[in-house]
Amino acid sequence: MTLLELDEVKVHFPVRRGILFDRTVGHVYAVDGVSLSVSAGQTYGLVGESGCGKTTLGRAVLRLNEITSGRVVFDGTDLAALPAEEMRRARRRLQMVFQDPLGSLNPRQNIESVLAEGMAAHGLGADRAERRAKILEILDRVGLPAGSLSRYPHEFSGGQRQRIGIARALVLEPDLVICDEPVSALDVSIQAQVLNLLEELQDSLGLTYLVIAHDLAVVRHISDVIGVMYLGSLVEEAPSDALYSDPRHPYTRALMSAVPVPDPEVEDTRERILLRGDLPSPAGPPAGCRFHTRCPWRQPERCATERPELTDVGGGHRVACHYAAEIAEGTLRPNRELAPPILHQPGTLTGFEAEAAEAAAEPGAAAGPEAGPGGPPDGGPGQGPQPLIP
Ligand SMILES: Nc1ncnc2c1ncn2[C@@H]1O[C@H](COP(=O)(O)OP(=O)(O)O)[C@@H](O)[C@H]1O
Ligand code: SF4
Ligand SMILES: [Mg+2]
Repeated sequence: MTLLELDEVKVHFPVRRGILFDRTVGHVYAVDGVSLSVSAGQTYGLVGESGCGKTTLGRAVLRLNEITSGRVVFDGTDLAALPAEEMRRARRRLQMVFQDPLGSLNPRQNIESVLAEGMAAHGLGADRAERRAKILEILDRVGLPAGSLSRYPHEFSGGQRQRIGIARALVLEPDLVICDEPVSALDVSIQAQVLNLLEELQDSLGLTYLVIAHDLAVVRHISDVIGVMYLGSLVEEAPSDALYSDPRHPYTRALMSAVPVPDPEVEDTRERILLRGDLPSPAGPPAGCRFHTRCPWRQPERCATERPELTDVGGGHRVACHYAAEIAEGTLRPNRELAPPILHQPGTLTGFEAEAAEAAAEPGAAAGPEAGPGGPPDGGPGQGPQPLIP
């Protein structure tokens, strides 16, 4: 059963200028037509580099960002069309967990008061004693001692604070939890613990998750389905295993190639695709395929003029690339004339890759015909190709 369905959701922020007359001079196309669905009891992982619109999309589901157009259907109701008071009530069932959920809290508010606040606002628990009983139950579920109740945010470690953030969402008995970069601020050793906790809670409480992260490794193990976002829209979506074993979109391939492989033999020989430049500005996104300014497979026809639709290529695998089939078959090679170089391994460039890298290293060489605004201005050695994920 589908619990959450987004239909062509757009969130455009107006860019205003002027002192006397506040004029709208353009828009930031932060989310620009996203359609996806999340099944009840499952986890949808949303990945993409910083600035591609993930947080804006998550906030739009809760209407913390106003939706410019499109539908957000939650359990049969279009949230985008709900009056404010009904939306406020609906929000109990949709909760968000942030990167540092306690960062913005009043340091003088103890944990019991933090957790009871939302319950009281939504009329949960008849009195203080009932609320306390519920809070204690949830604290136990997230692995925090009962003594945490009277303590203050600064007394907790990063991992514990994230557990409190999760508890704050769970005391409201939500159906859907949107986790925005839930472990990005934590040490790697703690990340796994928090991700395991999220999985346990999903199993025991029947929760549905939308997990947002810039790091593919984070969403990999907990997601049933993964969507890859680039500059405001989805470029690929597939069941988790299919996305990892058979990434189809050039952008997904580049993202995957930035994730190290534990087997040293594979790690030494695998293909690595390094993209040039930064994400173009969402205030002036490239025409046609939004990825064409950085795509190694870019073709002279269609890519710069025609926006590819997210198309089902079988088995629930959707890809937005005009040449996905040819790239998968191997009949289309990276474009020598138009594309930035692909590097297989530092120091072992061959053929056209070496040639292209050499050309890029020459002072004054172009960074590619239409490198993004943040791209290297002269393609010089210090500003060569950059990995997508630091
Ligand atoms: N309130 C806002 N007003 C204008 N631009 C915004 C606002 N919020 C986010 N943006 C812009 O929208 C784009 C997407 O941001 P965000 O959703 O935070 O990306 P991500 O979470 O993927 O890093 C960015 O360019 C960001 O600067
Ligand atoms: S449509 Fe063209 S530019 Fe876009 S991803 Fe496919 S090959 Fe690359
Ligand atoms: Mg974000």
